[in-house]
Amino acid sequence: MCGIVAYLGPKNPLPIVLNGLQRLEYRGYDSAGIFLSDGLTRQTTKVVGKVSELRNELATKNKFDAQLGMGHTRWATHGEPNQLNAHPHVSNSGDLVLIHNGIIENYGVLKKELIERGYHFTSETDSEVLVNWIEEIKKTSGVKLGKAVQMALSQVVGAYGIVVHDNSNPMELIVARLGSPIAIGLEKEGFFVGSDATPFLDHTREVIYLEDNEMAILRAGKDIQVRQTDNDTLRTPTVEELKWNLENIQKGGFPHFMLKEIHEQPDAIRNTLRGRLFAEEGKIQISSFNEHQSVFTQARRIIIIACGTSWHAGLVGEYLIETFARIPVEVEYASEFRYRNPLIYSDDIVIPISQSGETADTLAALKLAKKAGAFIYGICNVVGSSISRETHSGMYTHAGPEIGVASTKAFTTQIAVLSLIAFKLAVIKETLSPKALRSHLIELDKVPTLMEQLIAEKEQVEEIAKIIHTATNCLYLGRGYNFPVALEGALKLKEISYIHAEGYPAAEMKHGPIALIDEAMPVVVIATRKGHYEKIVSNIQEIKSRKGIVIAIVSKGDTSVKKIADYCIEIPESSECFTPLYATLPLQFLSYYIAVLRECNVDQPRNLAKSVTVE
Ligand code: M6R
Repeated sequence: MCGIVAYLGPKNPLPIVLNGLQRLEYRGYDSAGIFLSDGLTRQTTKVVGKVSELRNELATKNKFDAQLGMGHTRWATHGEPNQLNAHPHVSNSGDLVLIHNGIIENYGVLKKELIERGYHFTSETDSEVLVNWIEEIKKTSGVKLGKAVQMALSQVVGAYGIVVHDNSNPMELIVARLGSPIAIGLEKEGFFVGSDATPFLDHTREVIYLEDNEMAILRAGKDIQVRQTDNDTLRTPTVEELKWNLENIQKGGFPHFMLKEIHEQPDAIRNTLRGRLFAEEGKIQISSFNEHQSVFTQARRIIIIACGTSWHAGLVGEYLIETFARIPVEVEYASEFRYRNPLIYSDDIVIPISQSGETADTLAALKLAKKAGAFIYGICNVVGSSISRETHSGMYTHAGPEIGVASTKAFTTQIAVLSLIAFKLAVIKETLSPKALRSHLIELDKVPTLMEQLIAEKEQVEEIAKIIHTATNCLYLGRGYNFPVALEGALKLKEISYIHAEGYPAAEMKHGPIALIDEAMPVVVIATRKGHYEKIVSNIQEIKSRKGIVIAIVSKGDTSVKKIADYCIEIPESSECFTPLYATLPLQFLSYYIAVLRECNVDQPRNLAKSVTVE
């Protein structure tokens, strides 16, 4: 979704803002813009397309020593991607400038009122309405910008992360958030603002995260004041230290972030398990479980809420927790859960899963469950994200930054965390013998090393990609633990290569999808030895009888499937519960190589955003 970068201070803001916008490209966008000011000269530049085009456009303009820069990448919500709709937006008087991430839901009403008062609009955006609404309040109430922003936001319905500037006070910026993240980087005499901290990672390690309903007044060379937007309560902000470094957010020799992130999975899982898994001792150490022992002992039901890939990980979690801990689990799309008046009890544990920790629907569903009295135990990757801050407790996946829009290492590390949770709950509920537990933990401990061996065999997947990359449809089938993997494989393919793909439980094939199968239809079947093997072999035979092209993911040393499938990819033999951790990898590679062959933009697929911060 939209990306925000701003800088106010003694350095040249132009490279800071442009490089910052480039770092936010992974969020997804369709136009970009920048505002520069030295107090006298003001320059706004906007383009449809990429930040590189904005850079080219700026090269043709007059240079001056700006002291303030505000940049934006826009992911269209209200109005098509064009120059007029791109940010920054300037108020009618020309004094106020605003960049905005989010949606102002009541913008229509506000716009109508402003038009009646003589305002005109050049764009179709809700953001242009907001900047003029602030201007109108400032003018009619005779207040300073900070107060005007506060008053305007009290009348706004929706979500926002905004940065506002007033030409009459050139060394000040007002920043506010509700639902859309805002990080503020601190240096001796200046401030950086970002939708996350990546734009200023190379400038400072000190960061403040705004909470919902908070605003900050930044004065260059002076101070920062953080206050509530709905009252005047001041907060002394906690300055946090950034742990991620520049290397983490660069490609490190890989042509795409996605490929780098696929390769990072063994290490990412090592980081997930470190300090938590003690395989030889047959122990799992999760500090948050000790702190909330009674909640986990008494839990009658677990509800997992998530979107996209994280929802698929949640489905694997359901199999794991129900199998090992015998606690009923429901897995819900956050967007459905929040609007269907769900039954939530005080002895429910609700687990929101989110890589970014900023997905609007997951955040809203979490808040709903919290209000209903459930205990909220989050699984997030981004430390300090909105979801992680709203939960009662939880675990980080420690996968490191995931920049590619297609989620890869986030998925497998989420499954690793869910495995730890399932086994820990099994210990609490006494549903697994110590011997069986130890044997599973020893297997889990070996996952990163076996994943490395699997990654080393990726060329075989590339060869298959060469054969099927021109397909227009593709079917993914799996059973049990591998049904969610089939869904994930299909999602990966469609989002980055734009091939229509469907994931199905293999047995459901006969209830409809079988009608699609012909000699042009590649069918990816996860057919590992542990878990319904004979049944899946029959499914493969049914596909072959209809001339479908079968690409089977099989356990090492398989002979039966190899005789009937067109292509086989071997993965390590494992207990059924760990097959998703292996079977996912070749599917990630398959979608990656196919997308590259089709010359698609792998890391920034069309229409998609990395974190979906609007509903
Ligand atoms: O940050 P989140 O895990 O909450 O994001 C959820 C989905 O938007 C995300 O998984 C999306 O489906 C990915 N593009 C899938 O690769």
